[in-house]
Amino acid sequence: MKEEAAVGAGRSEVRRLAEMSNLYTPWSLRTAVTLGLPDLIAEGPEGVLGIEELGERSGTDIDALRRLTRHLANLGLFEEVRPDGLRLTELGEALRSSHPAKMAHFLDQGDAFIRSNDAVIPAMADSIRTGGAAWESVFEKNLWESLAADQALSASFDRTMSQHADILGRRLAGTREWTEVGSVVDVGGGSGQLLANILREHAHLKGTVVDLPDTVGRAAEIFDAAGVSDRADVVGRSFFEPLPAGADAYLLVHVLHNWPTGEAAKILRGCAEATGATGKVLVVDQVVDLEGHPAPFVSTQRDLCMLLMVGGQERTAAEFEALGEEAGLRLVSVTSLGPDGNSLLEFESREQRSR
Ligand SMILES: C[S@@+](CC[C@H](N)C(=O)[O-])C[C@H]1O[C@@H](n2cnc3c(N)ncnc32)[C@H](O)[C@@H]1O
Repeated sequence: MKEEAAVGAGRSEVRRLAEMSNLYTPWSLRTAVTLGLPDLIAEGPEGVLGIEELGERSGTDIDALRRLTRHLANLGLFEEVRPDGLRLTELGEALRSSHPAKMAHFLDQGDAFIRSNDAVIPAMADSIRTGGAAWESVFEKNLWESLAADQALSASFDRTMSQHADILGRRLAGTREWTEVGSVVDVGGGSGQLLANILREHAHLKGTVVDLPDTVGRAAEIFDAAGVSDRADVVGRSFFEPLPAGADAYLLVHVLHNWPTGEAAKILRGCAEATGATGKVLVVDQVVDLEGHPAPFVSTQRDLCMLLMVGGQERTAAEFEALGEEAGLRLVSVTSLGPDGNSLLEFESREQRSR
């Protein structure tokens, strides 16, 4: 009996390990999104579509499609509602391209950056051996060089960042009053989506995005769409060069985690120098507790993502405080921006506090 129980326990462990390590399931979700299946099903009469019609509309082989949708039904994403009819479950609804969480975008293998991003993960052992970005061993350039060399990839990267920025910008606009701030520089602000969302909600604010020239070249359309073009401008320049000086606040959103400590401190110091003794530096990043037992799953996963893609890292509050010290800044508050681990860290000049 004892032995049987031991074998049984072993089996359940093996099943758990198989579920964790099997690539067919995550790839089935990516394939469904890439083929547009969730949207096509949702667009069927009363949200139901026959498999034959789904095959025709998605340009796929009916038998192979049936096998894929059967696995997705097993996962609880699709349900069979009549012989050969498919409907999205509540879980499957989150895979539609219109869903606010934008999961579909992050799975779509038709997107150049998402495809490259996923292609780096099998090279994880390279990162663990070298401590650097696996992106470089796969593409023989770092991420920023790859983007500079390929317009389509760079446009796709900026679009992906704008998806995050759209969600975070809305949260950030509502998290603080912004009343003591008249001007903001969003450093590494991508194509301006996050700044546009903040300016739209706070009509007294003016803002500037500093990012690489191709990336800020895509901002005009976003500022126009948000109706903030008269209060927003761009500077196409590396953030390792001097930043436009004298603004009330400098924002760094999902920038510091892209860089190892030396470079991250340099970027923060650039903001501290530009804002002088009176301004603020506002950082949005994950604030993690990687030493926790167990450390939160999302944090450890994102930390690996930063390592593989750019040789960066997620940081604890103490590590951010130490980075600030190096840059002549004092960490004055940490505010959670929601359950996904993003936090707003407010820094001010050390001189400001001692006056
Ligand atoms: C992870 S993205 C974050 C973008 C934006 N802050 C957001 O939250 O969506 C990092 C940004 O840093 C920019 N970047 C990378 N190296 C840079 C450099 N040397 N100078 C200026 N921007 C840079 C990239 O172009 C990209 O827009």
